[in-house]
Amino acid sequence: MPTAAVIGAQWGDEGKGKIVDRLAEEADLVVRFQGGANAGHTISVEGEERVLHLIPSGIFHEGVRSLVGPGVVVDPGELLGEVESLRAAGIEVEDRLGVSGNAHVIFPYHRAEEAWMEAARGSGRIGTTGRGIGPAYADRISRTGIRLFDLLDVDRLSEKLTLSLRLKAHILEGLPDRAEDFDRDRLVENALALGGRLGPYLADVEDELARGVERDARILLEGAQGTLLDVAHGTYPFVTSSHTIAGGACTGLGMAPSRIQHVLAVVKAYSTRVGEGPFPTELTGETGERLRERGREYGATTGRPRRCGWLDLIALAYAVRLNGVTGLAVTKLDVLDGIEELRVCTGYRIGETVQEFWPVNSSQLREVAPRCETLPGWKASTEGAKRVEDLPGEARRYLDRISESLGVPLDVVSTGPDRGQEVWFRRPW
Ligand code: GDP
Ligand code: IMO
Ligand code: MG
Repeated sequence: MPTAAVIGAQWGDEGKGKIVDRLAEEADLVVRFQGGANAGHTISVEGEERVLHLIPSGIFHEGVRSLVGPGVVVDPGELLGEVESLRAAGIEVEDRLGVSGNAHVIFPYHRAEEAWMEAARGSGRIGTTGRGIGPAYADRISRTGIRLFDLLDVDRLSEKLTLSLRLKAHILEGLPDRAEDFDRDRLVENALALGGRLGPYLADVEDELARGVERDARILLEGAQGTLLDVAHGTYPFVTSSHTIAGGACTGLGMAPSRIQHVLAVVKAYSTRVGEGPFPTELTGETGERLRERGREYGATTGRPRRCGWLDLIALAYAVRLNGVTGLAVTKLDVLDGIEELRVCTGYRIGETVQEFWPVNSSQLREVAPRCETLPGWKASTEGAKRVEDLPGEARRYLDRISESLGVPLDVVSTGPDRGQEVWFRRPW
């Protein structure tokens, strides 16, 4: 049985949560490998919209084990809050959720540090989600991070916090009103309490995964954010702080690349971006507004309006290359219903020249103008379509154009937020 990675091919919010939830019906394990509560994955379950930030999108299926891998950064309070809100909805997760003790902890001072850095950047700010993701990953790389396991041992925790806080003393100087977030005794007390409550969920995720691979389990690796937000290969510095590409699953989980057989790229039928940074096909006028309203393009984590634009085939070709994409999940096709003419970007104009590939220096994207091809739109509704025959010819043409241009087959096309509102062509197993 193949292991399938499901990743975002654009700037996040492609609809990964919905696709993972649908595929999870037939999966054994669903595993988050990077990011943290910066993610907001929306799943519509029996008419109820649920947003998950840290808990994997397999959680609504009883027979599925949902795992949070060691590459994720975990705010214990956020995680427990999510568990509580599921419990309030009648969903008990204790037997279905496992969290790696090797995952790094986000502390209140990480959020404070992020606010401080964003303020220092001024107009060059990144527009982060404010969840402390960047500073927590920075501490991991600096080898001063604290792992969930450390919350179970008061001496180790105190020792590590003492060092971390000593190194961060200069930050506190710039944030006199956040002193509480840097108070060691208070941090130790709260973290121990949270560690105790997390106890039932801590699991040997690494071993569970390895055993799953050995016994040929059906495994879904759930990406967060999107390819163009990858810390190394995205639009740096306007990126998140983790590896969002499929290779991030290998480093995030300790999984060998040869163990991933299928890479499903989730592609929104148009583009969106939340936060700052270059966006060549952005539409700032009426059409962008229409996409935002029709697509309900407001952040699932921060509520910010998402910037909207046409589909960018150059960026997607780059994503196909970086991820080794083997199948496409095109989402939100229904949002394009009724738009007379659609555009897709097939080149970047830089001065007098047009280039048909992603620039090696992504800062150049600030100066490019998109060269677009026009495709006819469709009048009929595609909302809720389940069979390819139910899609208007122009919609099929639009989908074929994407698949042919990228040289990757369509696995599924999503035509609405609810379960079952999809046209399926192929499943990973
Ligand atoms: P994720 O972060 O990639 O999981 O995506 P988000 O949940 O942040 O954003 C996707 C939004 O689009 C959510 O509100 C979904 O309910 C919604 N959605 C997903 N697929 C479709 C679709 O095919 N059509 C429509 N209209 N909405 C969709
Ligand atoms: P999902 O998983 C869209 C963006 C932020 C900001 C940049 C860095 O729901 O697709 P961070 O808080 O990560 O340091 O912010 O990344 N960003 C996302 N944009 N979807 C997400 O997650 C995102 N997670 C982070 O808006 O531009
Ligand atoms: Mg999202």
